[in-house]
Amino acid sequence: MAIASTAASLMTVERDRERAAIARERLRGLEHVVLHVGDWRQILPAHRPFDFLFFDAGVIYDSPEVVDLLAPGGLLVKDDMTPGRPVEGDPVREFLFGHSQLVAVEVITTPETAAIVAAKRG
Ligand SMILES: C[S@@+](CC[C@H](N)C(=O)[O-])C[C@H]1O[C@@H](n2cnc3c(N)ncnc32)[C@H](O)[C@@H]1O
Repeated sequence: MAIASTAASLMTVERDRERAAIARERLRGLEHVVLHVGDWRQILPAHRPFDFLFFDAGVIYDSPEVVDLLAPGGLLVKDDMTPGRPVEGDPVREFLFGHSQLVAVEVITTPETAAIVAAKRG
């Protein structure tokens, strides 16, 4: 909702029908938000490029095609990280910090949580 309420336009995808129904209810009235039910891998490529992607759907290093969805200079955000862990040995950090098309930074969001924000090189 925080992103939906501030974005100029937003597309969100949920493959679980019950969760999608809850999301649809919460997003009711937000004309600039489009909710798709299904697998983002099949739905989002037709709508690329995206300036901003909030990845909250499974294992990011199993989904390298997410980078192809981003516009040059676009931002990819992965939350639910534990702050201050080394890159080596953490497959999420290894993917985001090691990707040749991304420049990533860790942002501490609370004392117990962090997000990684990665920009796609132009
Ligand atoms: C961590 S939950 C987040 C749910 C919701 N965004 C929220 O904040 O409450 C991850 C969600 O991603 C969905 N998901 C996982 N893989 C997906 C995929 N390939 N395409 C679409 N949705 C997916 C799951 O069904 C699950 O509801």
